[in-house]
Amino acid sequence: MNPLKLAPATREHARSLDSGDPLRDFRDRFLLDDDVIYLDGNSLGALPRTTVERMREVVSEQWGNRLIRGWDEGWLELPLTVGDRLGSLLGAGAGELVIADSTTVCFYKLARAALDLRPGRRQIVTDLDNFPTDRYVLEGIAQAGDAHIDWLRCDRTLGPRVEDVAAVIGANTALVTFSHVSYRSGFMAAMAAISRLAHEAGALTLWDLSHSAGSVPVALHEDGADLAVGCTYKYLSGGPGAPAYMYADRRLLAELRQPIWGWLGRRDPFAMGPGYLPADGIRRLLSGSPPVLALTAVDEGIKLVAEAGMERIHAKAMALTDFAIALVDARLAQLHFSIASPRNRLRRGAHVAVAHGEAEALCAELIARGVIVDFRGPDVIRLGLSPLTTRFVDVWDAVEALRALVD
Ligand SMILES: Cc1ncc(COP(=O)(O)O)c(C=O)c1O
Repeated sequence: MNPLKLAPATREHARSLDSGDPLRDFRDRFLLDDDVIYLDGNSLGALPRTTVERMREVVSEQWGNRLIRGWDEGWLELPLTVGDRLGSLLGAGAGELVIADSTTVCFYKLARAALDLRPGRRQIVTDLDNFPTDRYVLEGIAQAGDAHIDWLRCDRTLGPRVEDVAAVIGANTALVTFSHVSYRSGFMAAMAAISRLAHEAGALTLWDLSHSAGSVPVALHEDGADLAVGCTYKYLSGGPGAPAYMYADRRLLAELRQPIWGWLGRRDPFAMGPGYLPADGIRRLLSGSPPVLALTAVDEGIKLVAEAGMERIHAKAMALTDFAIALVDARLAQLHFSIASPRNRLRRGAHVAVAHGEAEALCAELIARGVIVDFRGPDVIRLGLSPLTTRFVDVWDAVEALRALVD
């Protein structure tokens, strides 16, 4: 559907799309200033009102009153219980997803673990446009002498094609790793087809779901993903610096070894015994104490996403991004703006990259006028259209603000 083909391009039309939006009431469930047009929920999700209440309770009741007893009253289990709640949204089974550490550390743990599961194979395949932290972690692993990286140079807008991957993988491939939804253009990689190809070569896949979780459907099991990581502070509204997650297909768990051997990833940790033995199940991916307060916030964000439902969230993500693309085509193309995201709604996430030669200066001007977007060099203005908090009228107003600036 092209929302501009159905009705004239007016602000009224945007308002009528908001009236018909089945998720429209969710916006009030977040603390959001109406004077700000927030199009950066794909960097930091807005604060759910229930999180404020729940944090207050955990701080004063649990930390304040229960003190150290809290660890036995649920805190120690939070990485797994909140992990299972998130796992069910991402197509994982119970006991396959755990919340811990930053995305960077989770990515390191699982990339290293994947190489150890494929001894004798040394090739890692990824793309040059992958998110920086993923690239740097892989470079560090390669420099330690255990692997070499084959960098795919893909179309920046459309991302890795199955045939690009097929051309480089083979009997030496240990790991194939991509972002599922790209941080820049928003392309959605073909998880099922790429995983199948990797498996045919005997390799493992590791997916970064940071821009996917809470915005597009993810079917980890069905699509044959072996391993995955992602952050919780974008569409999952877990809060600044919220902990990330690791997924491992249960078939791999018995053999999987991650490199940061901490006490809470050990079997029977409170025995404080000699030597490290990995815990059974997904717990072996943990290292140290879970961030209880941050996990509480993550839990509330995940609950909101679960309540809205991934099907409705994805439908709105597609409608909002369609609307943004149609508006840029109709109202900004003549001012030298162009779309740098996939035009196929099934092949993109919930943000739209708008390219312009003056993108950096325009972003700064927009932010100064209360339209919060972000800049991704060299020339992209990224409009993050978080389905639970963004209105169609926000998209309209942001596009008009850009027009006014350039005009
Ligand atoms: C795709 C992707 N991976 C990783 C990260 C960040 O990782 P960390 O949680 O370690 O800061 C981001 C942050 O925006 C991201 O977009």
